[in-house]
Amino acid sequence: MFCDKILQQISKIVEEENYPFYVYDLDNLKKIVEEFSSTKSVKLWYAQKANPLSSILRTMHSLNVPIDCASLGEVEQALRNGYSASQIISTGPSKSKAYLKTLVERGVRNFVLESQNQAYWLNEVAKDEVDVLLRIQKSNWKLSGQNVIGGNQLSQFGLEVFDWKKVNFRELKNLNILGFHIFQWGNILNRDELFSIWDEIFIDSKLWAQELGLTNFPVIDLGGGLGIPYSTHDKPLVISEILEYLESKRIENQLEEIWLELGRFLVGPVGYYANRIVDIKEVQGVRMLILEGGINHMIRGTLAKQYFPAMDLRSDSQKSPYRVYGPLCTSLDYLGEHHLSSQIEIGDWLVFTQCGAYGFSESMPLFLCHDLPAEFIFSEGNMEILRTRQKIDSLMR
Ligand SMILES: Cc1ncc(COP(=O)(O)O)c(C=O)c1O
Repeated sequence: MFCDKILQQISKIVEEENYPFYVYDLDNLKKIVEEFSSTKSVKLWYAQKANPLSSILRTMHSLNVPIDCASLGEVEQALRNGYSASQIISTGPSKSKAYLKTLVERGVRNFVLESQNQAYWLNEVAKDEVDVLLRIQKSNWKLSGQNVIGGNQLSQFGLEVFDWKKVNFRELKNLNILGFHIFQWGNILNRDELFSIWDEIFIDSKLWAQELGLTNFPVIDLGGGLGIPYSTHDKPLVISEILEYLESKRIENQLEEIWLELGRFLVGPVGYYANRIVDIKEVQGVRMLILEGGINHMIRGTLAKQYFPAMDLRSDSQKSPYRVYGPLCTSLDYLGEHHLSSQIEIGDWLVFTQCGAYGFSESMPLFLCHDLPAEFIFSEGNMEILRTRQKIDSLMR
Protein backbone atom coordinates (compact mmCIF):
# COMPACT_ATOMS: atom_id res chain seq x y z
CA MET A 1 0.00 0.00 0.00
CA PHE A 2 2.95 2.33 0.55
CA CYS A 3 6.56 2.63 -0.39
CA ASP A 4 9.24 2.52 2.35
CA LYS A 5 11.46 4.82 0.29
CA ILE A 6 8.78 7.51 0.42
CA LEU A 7 8.29 7.07 4.16
CA GLN A 8 12.04 7.54 4.68
CA GLN A 9 11.86 10.74 2.64
CA ILE A 10 8.80 11.95 4.56
CA SER A 11 10.64 11.28 7.85
CA LYS A 12 13.39 13.60 6.60
CA ILE A 13 10.97 16.35 5.52
CA VAL A 14 9.20 16.43 8.90
CA GLU A 15 12.48 17.37 10.58
CA GLU A 16 12.20 20.76 8.85
CA GLU A 17 8.50 21.24 8.02
CA ASN A 18 6.09 22.46 10.67
CA TYR A 19 2.80 22.24 8.79
CA PRO A 20 0.86 19.43 6.99
CA PHE A 21 1.98 18.59 3.46
CA TYR A 22 1.26 16.23 0.57
CA VAL A 23 3.75 14.06 -1.33
CA TYR A 24 3.07 12.39 -4.70
CA ASP A 25 5.28 9.54 -5.86
CA LEU A 26 5.61 10.07 -9.63
CA ASP A 27 7.97 7.09 -9.99
CA ASN A 28 5.23 4.77 -8.74
CA LEU A 29 2.67 6.58 -10.92
CA LYS A 30 4.75 5.79 -14.01
CA LYS A 31 4.90 2.11 -13.05
CA ILE A 32 1.13 1.85 -12.59
CA VAL A 33 0.37 3.66 -15.87
CA GLU A 34 2.94 1.67 -17.84
CA GLU A 35 1.47 -1.61 -16.62
CA PHE A 36 -2.01 -0.47 -17.60
CA SER A 37 -0.81 0.69 -21.02
CA SER A 38 0.87 -2.62 -21.82
CA THR A 39 -1.98 -3.75 -24.08
CA LYS A 40 -3.85 -2.26 -27.00
CA SER A 41 -7.19 -3.70 -25.83
CA VAL A 42 -7.93 -0.68 -23.66
CA LYS A 43 -7.64 2.98 -24.51
CA LEU A 44 -6.76 4.63 -21.21
CA TRP A 45 -7.76 8.23 -20.47
CA TYR A 46 -6.72 10.03 -17.29
CA ALA A 47 -9.71 11.40 -15.34
CA GLN A 48 -8.15 14.68 -14.26
CA LYS A 49 -10.76 15.28 -11.55
CA ALA A 50 -8.93 12.77 -9.38
CA ASN A 51 -5.89 15.06 -9.20
CA PRO A 52 -5.29 18.03 -11.53
CA LEU A 53 -1.78 18.83 -10.27
CA SER A 54 0.40 20.04 -13.17
CA SER A 55 3.23 17.56 -12.43
CA ILE A 56 0.77 14.69 -12.58
CA LEU A 57 -0.70 15.93 -15.86
CA ARG A 58 2.76 16.35 -17.36
CA THR A 59 3.64 12.80 -16.28
CA MET A 60 0.46 11.42 -17.86
CA HIS A 61 1.14 13.41 -21.03
CA SER A 62 4.72 12.10 -21.22
CA LEU A 63 3.30 8.57 -21.00
CA ASN A 64 0.89 9.27 -23.91
CA VAL A 65 -2.25 9.02 -21.78
CA PRO A 66 -4.98 11.31 -23.19
CA ILE A 67 -7.15 13.22 -20.74
CA ASP A 68 -10.75 13.46 -19.54
CA CYS A 69 -11.77 17.04 -18.69
CA ALA A 70 -15.07 17.92 -17.03
CA SER A 71 -14.83 21.73 -16.89
CA LEU A 72 -13.25 24.64 -18.74
CA GLY A 73 -10.74 24.94 -15.89
CA GLU A 74 -9.70 21.32 -16.45
CA VAL A 75 -9.44 21.85 -20.22
CA GLU A 76 -7.22 24.89 -19.68
CA GLN A 77 -5.13 23.03 -17.10
CA ALA A 78 -4.60 20.19 -19.63
CA LEU A 79 -3.68 22.61 -22.44
CA ARG A 80 -1.21 24.43 -20.13
CA ASN A 81 0.52 21.15 -19.35
CA GLY A 82 1.37 19.88 -22.81
CA TYR A 83 -1.90 18.39 -24.01
CA SER A 84 -3.31 19.27 -27.43
CA ALA A 85 -7.09 19.68 -27.79
CA SER A 86 -7.27 16.45 -29.82
CA GLN A 87 -6.06 14.51 -26.73
CA ILE A 88 -9.02 15.72 -24.66
CA ILE A 89 -12.40 14.09 -24.07
CA SER A 90 -15.07 16.37 -22.64
CA THR A 91 -17.28 14.72 -19.99
CA GLY A 92 -19.73 15.95 -17.35
CA PRO A 93 -23.43 16.70 -16.99
CA SER A 94 -23.08 20.51 -17.06
CA LYS A 95 -22.23 21.61 -20.59
CA SER A 96 -23.93 24.80 -21.79
CA LYS A 97 -24.07 25.78 -25.46
CA ALA A 98 -21.50 28.53 -24.81
CA TYR A 99 -19.15 26.05 -23.13
CA LEU A 100 -19.49 23.54 -25.99
CA LYS A 101 -18.78 26.35 -28.48
CA THR A 102 -15.64 27.35 -26.57
CA LEU A 103 -14.41 23.74 -26.56
CA VAL A 104 -15.08 23.31 -30.28
CA GLU A 105 -13.26 26.60 -31.01
CA ARG A 106 -10.28 25.39 -29.01
CA GLY A 107 -10.21 22.19 -31.09
CA VAL A 108 -11.76 19.54 -28.79
CA ARG A 109 -13.07 16.65 -30.95
CA ASN A 110 -14.31 14.05 -28.42
CA PHE A 111 -17.44 14.54 -26.36
CA VAL A 112 -19.51 12.45 -23.99
CA LEU A 113 -23.11 13.66 -24.40
CA GLU A 114 -25.24 13.63 -21.25
CA SER A 115 -28.50 15.26 -22.41
CA GLN A 116 -30.64 15.90 -25.48
CA ASN A 117 -29.72 19.60 -25.29
CA GLN A 118 -26.02 18.76 -25.31
CA ALA A 119 -26.60 16.80 -28.56
CA TYR A 120 -28.52 19.63 -30.27
CA TRP A 121 -26.13 22.35 -29.06
CA LEU A 122 -22.97 20.48 -30.01
CA ASN A 123 -24.37 19.72 -33.47
CA GLU A 124 -25.10 23.43 -33.90
CA VAL A 125 -21.74 24.79 -32.72
CA ALA A 126 -19.52 22.13 -34.38
CA LYS A 127 -18.36 23.29 -37.81
CA ASP A 128 -17.67 19.73 -38.96
CA GLU A 129 -18.02 16.21 -37.62
CA VAL A 130 -16.97 15.54 -34.00
CA ASP A 131 -16.90 12.17 -32.21
CA VAL A 132 -19.49 11.56 -29.52
CA LEU A 133 -20.43 8.87 -27.01
CA LEU A 134 -23.95 8.76 -25.58
CA ARG A 135 -23.91 8.49 -21.81
CA ILE A 136 -26.48 5.92 -20.75
CA GLN A 137 -28.16 5.86 -17.36
CA LYS A 138 -29.23 2.30 -16.64
CA SER A 139 -31.71 1.57 -13.87
CA ASN A 140 -32.10 -2.20 -13.75
CA TRP A 141 -28.71 -3.25 -12.36
CA LYS A 142 -28.38 -6.58 -10.58
CA LEU A 143 -26.43 -4.78 -7.85
CA SER A 144 -28.53 -2.70 -5.51
CA GLY A 145 -27.78 0.48 -3.64
CA GLN A 146 -26.23 3.88 -3.78
CA ASN A 147 -22.85 4.82 -5.10
CA VAL A 148 -20.97 8.09 -5.46
CA ILE A 149 -21.58 7.85 -9.23
CA GLY A 150 -25.29 7.03 -8.83
CA GLY A 151 -25.37 3.24 -8.55
CA ASN A 152 -28.91 1.99 -8.93
CA GLN A 153 -30.41 5.36 -7.96
CA LEU A 154 -31.61 8.27 -10.05
CA SER A 155 -28.73 10.64 -10.85
CA GLN A 156 -27.87 13.60 -13.07
CA PHE A 157 -25.51 11.55 -15.25
CA GLY A 158 -26.58 10.73 -18.82
CA LEU A 159 -30.01 9.66 -20.08
CA GLU A 160 -32.02 6.45 -20.31
CA VAL A 161 -32.05 4.88 -23.79
CA PHE A 162 -35.76 5.65 -23.92
CA ASP A 163 -34.91 9.38 -23.86
CA TRP A 164 -31.96 9.14 -26.26
CA LYS A 165 -34.45 7.57 -28.70
CA LYS A 166 -36.33 10.87 -28.88
CA VAL A 167 -33.34 12.52 -30.58
CA ASN A 168 -33.26 12.17 -34.36
CA PHE A 169 -29.52 11.68 -34.76
CA ARG A 170 -29.83 11.34 -38.56
CA GLU A 171 -30.52 15.07 -38.65
CA LEU A 172 -27.53 15.88 -36.45
CA LYS A 173 -24.95 15.60 -39.21
CA ASN A 174 -22.04 16.94 -37.16
CA LEU A 175 -22.24 14.16 -34.59
CA ASN A 176 -20.40 10.92 -35.29
CA ILE A 177 -21.65 8.41 -32.71
CA LEU A 178 -18.75 6.17 -31.68
CA GLY A 179 -20.73 4.29 -29.06
CA PHE A 180 -21.80 4.41 -25.43
CA HIS A 181 -20.42 5.78 -22.19
CA ILE A 182 -21.70 4.10 -19.06
CA PHE A 183 -20.34 4.54 -15.55
CA GLN A 184 -22.49 4.28 -12.44
CA TRP A 185 -20.36 2.32 -9.95
CA GLY A 186 -17.27 3.99 -8.51
CA ASN A 187 -14.52 2.53 -6.30
CA ILE A 188 -15.26 -1.17 -6.87
CA LEU A 189 -12.50 -3.28 -5.33
CA ASN A 190 -13.96 -6.73 -5.82
CA ARG A 191 -12.91 -8.15 -9.19
CA ASP A 192 -15.98 -10.36 -9.65
CA GLU A 193 -18.33 -7.49 -8.82
CA LEU A 194 -16.54 -5.26 -11.32
CA PHE A 195 -16.70 -7.92 -14.05
CA SER A 196 -20.36 -8.59 -13.36
CA ILE A 197 -21.16 -4.84 -13.73
CA TRP A 198 -19.23 -4.76 -17.01
CA ASP A 199 -20.85 -8.04 -18.21
CA GLU A 200 -24.27 -6.40 -17.83
CA ILE A 201 -23.08 -3.40 -19.85
CA PHE A 202 -21.74 -5.51 -22.72
CA ILE A 203 -24.99 -7.50 -22.91
CA ASP A 204 -27.25 -4.43 -22.68
CA SER A 205 -25.21 -2.39 -25.17
CA LYS A 206 -26.50 -4.59 -28.02
CA LEU A 207 -30.09 -3.78 -27.03
CA TRP A 208 -29.31 -0.06 -26.79
CA ALA A 209 -27.81 -0.11 -30.28
CA GLN A 210 -30.89 -1.90 -31.65
CA GLU A 211 -33.25 0.58 -29.97
CA LEU A 212 -31.31 3.53 -31.38
CA GLY A 213 -30.88 1.99 -34.82
CA LEU A 214 -27.08 1.98 -34.62
CA THR A 215 -25.78 -0.71 -36.95
CA ASN A 216 -22.24 -0.33 -35.74
CA PHE A 217 -20.67 1.08 -32.61
CA PRO A 218 -16.92 0.60 -32.30
CA VAL A 219 -16.41 1.91 -28.75
CA ILE A 220 -17.72 1.38 -25.23
CA ASP A 221 -16.38 3.75 -22.58
CA LEU A 222 -16.70 2.19 -19.13
CA GLY A 223 -15.62 5.37 -17.31
CA GLY A 224 -13.65 4.80 -14.10
CA GLY A 225 -14.61 2.83 -11.02
CA LEU A 226 -11.58 0.64 -10.31
CA GLY A 227 -11.20 0.68 -6.55
CA ILE A 228 -8.11 0.83 -4.35
CA PRO A 229 -7.71 -0.59 -0.83
CA TYR A 230 -8.51 1.90 1.93
CA SER A 231 -8.09 -0.76 4.60
CA THR A 232 -5.17 -3.07 5.32
CA HIS A 233 -7.56 -6.07 5.05
CA ASP A 234 -8.38 -5.29 1.40
CA LYS A 235 -6.49 -6.72 -1.55
CA PRO A 236 -5.76 -4.57 -4.62
CA LEU A 237 -7.16 -5.38 -8.06
CA VAL A 238 -4.69 -7.12 -10.38
CA ILE A 239 -4.10 -5.12 -13.58
CA SER A 240 -3.28 -8.14 -15.77
CA GLU A 241 -6.61 -9.82 -14.84
CA ILE A 242 -8.53 -6.69 -15.77
CA LEU A 243 -6.76 -6.30 -19.11
CA GLU A 244 -7.26 -9.97 -19.94
CA TYR A 245 -10.99 -9.76 -19.18
CA LEU A 246 -11.40 -6.58 -21.25
CA GLU A 247 -9.51 -8.01 -24.21
CA SER A 248 -11.77 -11.08 -24.25
CA LYS A 249 -14.87 -8.86 -24.07
CA ARG A 250 -13.58 -6.58 -26.83
CA ILE A 251 -13.19 -9.56 -29.16
CA GLU A 252 -16.48 -11.23 -28.12
CA ASN A 253 -18.43 -7.98 -28.67
CA GLN A 254 -16.62 -7.03 -31.90
CA LEU A 255 -15.55 -3.67 -30.53
CA GLU A 256 -12.61 -1.74 -31.91
CA GLU A 257 -11.73 -0.28 -28.53
CA ILE A 258 -12.82 -0.31 -24.92
CA TRP A 259 -12.13 2.99 -23.19
CA LEU A 260 -11.50 3.60 -19.50
CA GLU A 261 -11.22 7.01 -17.85
CA LEU A 262 -9.31 6.19 -14.70
CA GLY A 263 -8.62 8.49 -11.80
CA ARG A 264 -8.49 6.79 -8.42
CA PHE A 265 -6.73 3.63 -9.57
CA LEU A 266 -3.86 5.52 -11.22
CA VAL A 267 -3.16 8.32 -8.75
CA GLY A 268 -4.78 7.22 -5.46
CA PRO A 269 -1.92 4.94 -4.34
CA VAL A 270 0.79 7.50 -5.09
CA GLY A 271 -0.38 10.21 -2.64
CA TYR A 272 0.66 10.75 1.01
CA TYR A 273 -0.57 13.40 3.43
CA ALA A 274 1.61 14.11 6.47
CA ASN A 275 -0.11 15.82 9.37
CA ARG A 276 1.00 16.84 12.88
CA ILE A 277 -0.61 16.11 16.26
CA VAL A 278 -1.56 19.31 18.08
CA ASP A 279 -3.34 17.79 21.09
CA ILE A 280 -4.19 14.47 22.72
CA LYS A 281 -7.12 13.95 25.09
CA GLU A 282 -9.62 11.41 26.37
CA VAL A 283 -13.38 11.95 26.24
CA GLN A 284 -15.68 9.30 27.78
CA GLY A 285 -12.68 6.98 27.89
CA VAL A 286 -12.01 7.38 24.15
CA ARG A 287 -8.51 8.52 23.16
CA MET A 288 -8.54 11.37 20.65
CA LEU A 289 -5.85 13.00 18.55
CA ILE A 290 -6.43 16.54 17.28
CA LEU A 291 -4.39 17.27 14.17
CA GLU A 292 -3.27 20.49 12.53
CA GLY A 293 -5.00 19.68 9.22
CA GLY A 294 -8.35 18.02 8.63
CA ILE A 295 -11.11 18.06 6.04
CA ASN A 296 -9.84 21.49 4.93
CA HIS A 297 -6.99 19.49 3.34
CA MET A 298 -8.53 16.03 2.85
CA ILE A 299 -12.31 15.59 2.99
CA ARG A 300 -13.05 12.52 0.89
CA GLY A 301 -12.83 9.98 3.73
CA THR A 302 -15.49 11.88 5.64
CA LEU A 303 -17.78 12.26 2.63
CA ALA A 304 -17.51 8.60 1.69
CA LYS A 305 -17.32 7.32 5.31
CA GLN A 306 -14.28 5.41 4.18
CA TYR A 307 -11.22 6.88 5.84
CA PHE A 308 -7.72 7.07 4.43
CA PRO A 309 -5.31 4.68 6.16
CA ALA A 310 -2.91 6.34 8.64
CA MET A 311 0.36 5.40 10.33
CA ASP A 312 2.75 7.05 12.75
CA LEU A 313 6.48 7.29 12.23
CA ARG A 314 7.47 5.54 15.49
CA SER A 315 9.14 2.14 15.39
CA ASP A 316 7.59 0.63 18.54
CA SER A 317 5.10 -2.13 17.89
CA GLN A 318 2.57 -1.65 20.70
CA LYS A 319 -0.52 -0.08 19.18
CA SER A 320 -3.67 1.51 20.61
CA PRO A 321 -6.84 2.76 18.93
CA TYR A 322 -7.26 6.52 18.54
CA ARG A 323 -9.97 8.61 17.00
CA VAL A 324 -8.40 11.25 14.82
CA TYR A 325 -9.86 14.73 14.26
CA GLY A 326 -8.89 17.86 12.33
CA PRO A 327 -8.91 21.50 13.50
CA LEU A 328 -12.29 22.66 12.16
CA CYS A 329 -15.31 23.61 14.27
CA THR A 330 -17.55 20.86 12.93
CA SER A 331 -17.93 17.25 14.01
CA LEU A 332 -17.60 16.40 10.31
CA ASP A 333 -13.88 17.01 10.71
CA TYR A 334 -13.15 13.39 11.61
CA LEU A 335 -10.38 11.42 9.90
CA GLY A 336 -11.23 7.93 11.18
CA GLU A 337 -10.14 5.54 13.92
CA HIS A 338 -6.58 4.29 13.61
CA HIS A 339 -4.30 1.89 15.46
CA LEU A 340 -1.18 3.88 16.25
CA SER A 341 1.77 3.70 18.63
CA SER A 342 0.74 3.63 22.28
CA GLN A 343 3.64 6.04 22.92
CA ILE A 344 2.31 8.68 20.55
CA GLU A 345 2.94 12.30 21.64
CA ILE A 346 1.94 15.84 20.78
CA GLY A 347 4.16 17.01 17.89
CA ASP A 348 4.37 13.51 16.32
CA TRP A 349 3.45 13.18 12.66
CA LEU A 350 0.85 10.87 11.11
CA VAL A 351 1.09 9.88 7.46
CA PHE A 352 -2.12 9.14 5.56
CA THR A 353 -1.74 6.94 2.48
CA GLN A 354 -3.83 6.24 -0.67
CA CYS A 355 -4.74 9.94 -0.87
CA GLY A 356 -3.37 10.89 -4.30
CA ALA A 357 -6.90 10.81 -5.76
CA TYR A 358 -9.74 13.00 -4.51
CA GLY A 359 -7.38 14.35 -1.83
CA PHE A 360 -6.48 18.03 -1.53
CA SER A 361 -8.33 19.22 -4.66
CA GLU A 362 -11.64 17.74 -3.44
CA SER A 363 -11.39 19.38 0.00
CA MET A 364 -12.75 22.58 1.60
CA PRO A 365 -9.59 24.66 2.11
CA LEU A 366 -11.19 28.02 2.96
CA PHE A 367 -13.21 27.04 6.05
CA LEU A 368 -11.66 28.65 9.17
CA CYS A 369 -8.92 30.37 7.13
CA HIS A 370 -6.21 27.79 7.78
CA ASP A 371 -3.15 27.71 5.52
CA LEU A 372 -2.97 25.45 2.47
CA PRO A 373 -0.62 22.45 2.77
CA ALA A 374 2.70 22.35 0.92
CA GLU A 375 2.97 19.86 -1.96
CA PHE A 376 6.02 17.77 -2.89
CA ILE A 377 6.76 15.31 -5.66
CA PHE A 378 9.08 12.33 -5.56
CA SER A 379 10.49 11.86 -9.03
CA GLU A 380 13.48 9.87 -10.33
CA GLY A 381 14.51 9.18 -6.77
CA ASN A 382 14.47 12.85 -5.70
CA MET A 383 12.10 14.87 -3.56
CA GLU A 384 11.13 18.30 -4.89
CA ILE A 385 8.86 20.94 -3.41
CA LEU A 386 6.14 22.25 -5.75
CA ARG A 387 4.48 24.74 -3.45
CA THR A 388 5.28 25.78 0.11
CA ARG A 389 2.60 26.18 2.79
CA GLN A 390 0.40 29.03 1.65
CA LYS A 391 -1.81 31.64 3.30
CA ILE A 392 -5.28 32.16 1.83
CA ASP A 393 -5.37 35.94 2.32
CA SER A 394 -5.35 36.60 -1.45
CA LEU A 395 -8.72 34.80 -1.69
CA MET A 396 -10.30 36.79 1.16
CA ARG A 397 -10.57 40.24 -0.42
C1 LIG B 1 -17.16 10.65 -16.15
C2 LIG B 1 -16.13 10.14 -15.21
N1 LIG B 1 -15.11 9.40 -15.71
C3 LIG B 1 -14.14 8.94 -14.90
C4 LIG B 1 -14.15 9.18 -13.53
C5 LIG B 1 -13.03 8.65 -12.69
O1 LIG B 1 -13.44 7.64 -11.86
P1 LIG B 1 -12.42 6.85 -10.94
O2 LIG B 1 -11.70 7.83 -10.12
O3 LIG B 1 -13.29 5.93 -10.19
O4 LIG B 1 -11.48 6.10 -11.84
C6 LIG B 1 -15.21 9.91 -12.97
C7 LIG B 1 -15.27 10.13 -11.53
O5 LIG B 1 -16.15 10.75 -10.98
C8 LIG B 1 -16.23 10.41 -13.82
O6 LIG B 1 -17.24 11.12 -13.35
